[in-house]
Amino acid sequence: MHFLPEQASNFAPEVDQLLFFLLIVSIFFTVVIFGAIFYFAVRYRRRSDYELPHSQHTGMALEIIWSVIPFGLTMIMFGWGASIFFRESRPPDDAMNINVVGKQWMWKLQHMEGQREINELHIPLGRAVRLRMTSEDVIHSFYVPVFRVKQDVLPGRYTQLWFHPTKPGKYHLFCAEYCGTKHSGMIGWVYVMEPADYQAWLSGGAGEGSLASRGEQLFQSLACINCHKEDGSGRGPMLVDLFGKTVEIEGGKPVVVDEAYLRESILTPQAKIAKGFQPIMPTFQGLVTEDQLLQLIEYIKSKGKKK
Ligand code: CUA
Repeated sequence: MHFLPEQASNFAPEVDQLLFFLLIVSIFFTVVIFGAIFYFAVRYRRRSDYELPHSQHTGMALEIIWSVIPFGLTMIMFGWGASIFFRESRPPDDAMNINVVGKQWMWKLQHMEGQREINELHIPLGRAVRLRMTSEDVIHSFYVPVFRVKQDVLPGRYTQLWFHPTKPGKYHLFCAEYCGTKHSGMIGWVYVMEPADYQAWLSGGAGEGSLASRGEQLFQSLACINCHKEDGSGRGPMLVDLFGKTVEIEGGKPVVVDEAYLRESILTPQAKIAKGFQPIMPTFQGLVTEDQLLQLIEYIKSKGKKK
């Protein structure tokens, strides 16, 4: 029986230290406050029916002390928590990307190289991992206690989560948001492997090609290529070098081309029309799955400059 799960990511020791600090402060004040209540209740109890308390003036110094100390403590908690929060929100540039799609009731994971997994995630030791996550139905939440990270997975939106595994092993993965009858069964395993083992695992049984190449096949089979021509002569915007750029929008503010914008442009093309183009693109809502959307996005990203 462990008080806390193992520490297996860069965040784990930091989160535990903060938690420990919060616990210590809470226990200290609980003891002091309840102790004072009992002590004063006994010390200043009414001793006769005719006893009347005489008026009291609290000292200014005391008032200042019991305002400033808690204020300082809560500011430490705020600053400390915020610093961890901000680091958890900013994945490093060299993180490896993995796509996660949650659905009732399983986790579907896709590696950039093409490997697909269900309720299992294999990752190498010593590299930051960034998960790009979405849901096919309701809200789920991706939770790996040993990494001390948890992030909601929402339909119609991409959220992200990153961590740097620090210890090889097999760890629990949970869904931490009640999502229906089999929510409690929406669990899995994360395998943190030695880099060489991971390479071996990766080379076994991809077969279907990388995400970007599957996206390219879709791009052709859905006939996107008829309008989005490589030479820019098509009726839709050219997609080469597009990812990460800022584009002008008809009657709106410029937008940065990111995953969310590409997703929106495939599902609701009329929402933001690139300047100089007609609103003629049909929606692909219902025609492509979340997995396929991610493949298409990966294909479009692969046509951009490599960082
Ligand atoms: Cu998915 Cu709970």
